[in-house]
Amino acid sequence: MSRVVVTGRIPEAALEKLRAEHEVDAWTGQDSIDRDELLRRVAGADAIVSLLTERIDGELLDAAGPQLRVVANVAVGYDNIDVPACRERDVVATNTPGVLTEATADIAFGLILMATRRLGEGERLIRSGTAWKWGMFFLLGSSLQGKTLGVVGMGGIGQATARRAKAFGMEVVYQSRSEIDPAVAEELGARRVELDELLSVSDVVSLHCPYGPATHHLIGAEQLAAMKESAYLVNTARGPIIDEEALAAALRAGLIAGAGLDVYEHEPRVHPDLLDLDNVALVPHLGSATVETRTAMATLAADNAIAVLARQEPPTPIR
Ligand code: DGY
Repeated sequence: MSRVVVTGRIPEAALEKLRAEHEVDAWTGQDSIDRDELLRRVAGADAIVSLLTERIDGELLDAAGPQLRVVANVAVGYDNIDVPACRERDVVATNTPGVLTEATADIAFGLILMATRRLGEGERLIRSGTAWKWGMFFLLGSSLQGKTLGVVGMGGIGQATARRAKAFGMEVVYQSRSEIDPAVAEELGARRVELDELLSVSDVVSLHCPYGPATHHLIGAEQLAAMKESAYLVNTARGPIIDEEALAAALRAGLIAGAGLDVYEHEPRVHPDLLDLDNVALVPHLGSATVETRTAMATLAADNAIAVLARQEPPTPIR
């Protein structure tokens, strides 16, 4: 029996799986675990099941000790994990791709609709008690039919968002490190372009690339200036892909029409200027937040940890 430390609250189904084979020490606090408490708890752990709110770095791996075999992140994104530090210590790192694809694409498309159809503004207006009535020019938004969606990062979530766009009558262009499956590209009628072209032709730009040094502030003042004045920017990937200061300035100056954000540069803090702007829809990192998806994510993370502890290949290692 190995010792598994779970750094935050996860669905019971996953905990049961882990408990069936191992001794589990799971943090049950409503708030994220305090760093010092985590450093103390991981001592002697064979496996860590981590949430994206916890930084898994060399210090933490060393606090766990040389017996540590696996860090199983309950997220597809793994910018909270120092993967080279894991490799140096022979610790396998895993994530949860695939199981949150559709849920995250739903939120991306929800934000596209919120931003282009001004749903948040409408809701705030009604809740504020302000008098209103139907009017020919009241809260006019922008149609999606016939417009172009630019997908930055055409992995599973980008493709699922493109699929939704197609159902709404949109054209799709994408920028990606590699060509996607030609059959999928054909089904979506999606054309691969460079980022510059994507920014200049898209009516909606949706970000789906991983976050790392190569994508830090991928969208800054220059890129925002390259977008159409009538365009919208949506981010369900990771906050620091966008320079938030530049985005707030662009939205204020009308360089782009609007934005929809699920993730933030200094999460959970939201740039104060964004809070003052009406043309940005803001939701609190809800991409994978469905009961089904979170259960699938945690169960996959548990399967990853269990496999490594049994000296088997985990289902979804970080390569
Ligand atoms: C992920 O898995 O990376 C998501 O951001 C979680 O919601």
